[in-house]
Amino acid sequence: MLLLNRVALITGGAKGIGKGMALKFAEEGCSVAIADISVKDANETINEIEKIGREGLFVECNVTDSGQLSDMVKQVIEKFGKIDILVNNAGTLLHVADPNLKSIATIPENEWDKLLAINLKGTFLTSKAVVPFMKEKRYGKIINITSLGAVYPPAVAPHYNSAKAGVMGLTYDMACELGPFNITVNAIMPGLIRTSFYEPVLKTKTDEEKEEFFKERSKNIPLQRAGTAEDVACVALFLASELSAYVTAAILPVTGGLPFQPNF
Ligand SMILES: NC(=O)c1ccc[n+]([C@@H]2O[C@H](COP(=O)([O-])OP(=O)(O)OC[C@H]3O[C@@H](n4cnc5c(N)ncnc54)[C@H](O)[C@@H]3O)[C@@H](O)[C@H]2O)c1
Repeated sequence: MLLLNRVALITGGAKGIGKGMALKFAEEGCSVAIADISVKDANETINEIEKIGREGLFVECNVTDSGQLSDMVKQVIEKFGKIDILVNNAGTLLHVADPNLKSIATIPENEWDKLLAINLKGTFLTSKAVVPFMKEKRYGKIINITSLGAVYPPAVAPHYNSAKAGVMGLTYDMACELGPFNITVNAIMPGLIRTSFYEPVLKTKTDEEKEEFFKERSKNIPLQRAGTAEDVACVALFLASELSAYVTAAILPVTGGLPFQPNF
């Protein structure tokens, strides 16, 4: 087992990619704390972690709120005594279907602020709350979640892409600052991953239309399919484990080959 006796904190671990990582880490011997705003989903994920035979802890927490974050980290430390692995995964593209969000001419200022707060400031605030405990143990593995949109914008959401580009910059800075404390800081850059992230855009569609949505978008992907939470979780496992002991300040794409395109 790659994570035996380790403790991970995963923000946004209730659903989607975060849930995939929570279960993968638990299968590898890790205790997992989840900080999320989605109570029902989080409780289900904790049940699944416990079924695997590992300890889980859910703390309801919005990553944009430094007070909630510091209470949440306190609870995790009280239960587990340490945090070895932090995954800054909580993120969203709030109104994914709204055409107004495609252009800087029409993005409302408050939407900009909300998206930056969840996707970028949340990563900063959560890291700020956790890093002192990692420094104390002189051990830590931090994994940030950015997006292919940060470097290859499809122009669907400039504020989301900007936030995710910020996460990349923060990853490089944190890696330099924390390397001397034996804390690695890396990022995963997902492409099209089939999760509830796309629910706002798909909720009115039939099952057939949902399949078509991903099929259509897979045509330009070298591997010809959307990714899964499991695909991302496997890379997160590498970054969370000693397999990546000498890897820091790396941004790993999990995109099926994008932005390169198949040469039929
Ligand atoms: N799915 C994709 O195609 C894709 C592509 C690139 C990047 N990403 C990134 O991957 C990460 C996970 O996305 P996903 O696809 O699993 O999405 P998802 O919507 O399925 O899950 C996101 C989770 O984050 C939680 N969350 C949202 N806002 C929060 C907040 N303020 N505080 C705490 N928790 C919050 C949600 O409740 C949910 O459990 C996000 O950072 C997303 O931006 C996803």
